[in-house]
Amino acid sequence: MGEDMRAVDIIIKKRDGQELAQEEIEFFVRGFAAGEIPDYQVSAWAMAVLFKGMNLREITDLTLAMAYTGQVLDLTGVVPIALDKHSTGGVGDKTTLVVEPLVSACGLPVGKMSGRGLGFSGGTLDKMESIPGFRTNLTTDEFIHQLRTVGLVLAGQSIDLAPADGKLYALRDVTGTVPSIPLIASSIMCKKIAAGAQAIVLDVKMGLGAFMPDLKEARILAETMTRIAHLAGRKAVALISDMNQPLGCAVGNALEVKEAIETLHGGGPADFREHCLFVAAHMLVLGGAVKDEAAGMTLAQENLQNGKAWEGFRTLVSVQGGEVGFVDYPERLPAAPCVKTVPAPRSGYLAEVNARVVGETAVTLGAGRTKKDDLIDPAVGVMIHHKVGDWVQAGEPLFTVHAGDPARLDEAVLLLLGAHTWSDQPVEPLPLFYEVIR
Ligand code: URA
Repeated sequence: MGEDMRAVDIIIKKRDGQELAQEEIEFFVRGFAAGEIPDYQVSAWAMAVLFKGMNLREITDLTLAMAYTGQVLDLTGVVPIALDKHSTGGVGDKTTLVVEPLVSACGLPVGKMSGRGLGFSGGTLDKMESIPGFRTNLTTDEFIHQLRTVGLVLAGQSIDLAPADGKLYALRDVTGTVPSIPLIASSIMCKKIAAGAQAIVLDVKMGLGAFMPDLKEARILAETMTRIAHLAGRKAVALISDMNQPLGCAVGNALEVKEAIETLHGGGPADFREHCLFVAAHMLVLGGAVKDEAAGMTLAQENLQNGKAWEGFRTLVSVQGGEVGFVDYPERLPAAPCVKTVPAPRSGYLAEVNARVVGETAVTLGAGRTKKDDLIDPAVGVMIHHKVGDWVQAGEPLFTVHAGDPARLDEAVLLLLGAHTWSDQPVEPLPLFYEVIR
């Protein structure tokens, strides 16, 4: 197969809007992964896909071809069902820190390979690494052993999952071909499939601080990913959730860990707690622990209130080398030297708290990266004290900046004042979720 195939013909076929055969997709992906098809041809092909699209069959073939350019974990026999969740990325999204121990406390093991933050959206590994000693670079054997014995793992990618995706993503980043639903959907799903996930809850973020700016695009992405999962023999459900304003109050690594800990103790911001319970409920349904979401919400609620989810988080920290004293007494977590609470400059209803600006401000403070190898400061970030729709009195605390130095603090204050938009008329609160796609 493929001996008389030529990359240029596959590019031309897609450029002319034709459907690619499975063998053509496999030939192209394998050739690229093996370094036999040069970057300029892959870039041209990615641009053709961006303009002409792909049907579901092509996207599924692309996903599987990319997954199988590397090792594909088989977790059958390790756990009854390999359950995973994936967020498409957002601002203040510390959901995994709560949901993973929560679902595990409800009786379903969860092993998760997470990523780092890039750009304005944060990453779970960076958050967990603000706990001194916490180790995310587990080997595949360690990952499987901990999943089997503890039922709870949170690690980075121990193996180079779907190496073709890493190469393709790097090219897409510099050729204007990131915003293509076939390419985004296959990129996300090939890594989930390679990591061995058998049931996946996809948290597709929509809004100012997300990849998908509007509901229509988010819905297409969500439907595409759930269908790929089914065609690849996995179970999936997609939740479309709001990312116009930050989730919860904390944005910044140690600050988010503290907020997750408060939530695991039954407190924390109401929107974040509710978001976690809803995601957990869907994982419990998909994993077969309960029959419907209402029962999932009840079970999750119980295990948050009775302290079992918190105990799970503590165990997770301890087995992965983290010093539990820092999570038992979160005030010991890294703290920034310059902290300032800024009052509301006027009275009014909050019409917008722009998640993208808040995320970018956190990056300016040093909480995130603009390049893959940038160092981050775990202590810095912001606390947003109000939500869209709140009535805020002039002089009330509006946000708090945690900075490494006074200059960056002043810069952040200006950016965050600009992220808040006011109205004299009542404003509807934003929903947490827009749709569930099964
Ligand atoms: N996340 C991914 O892993 N890939 C994309 O293309 C976009 C988001």
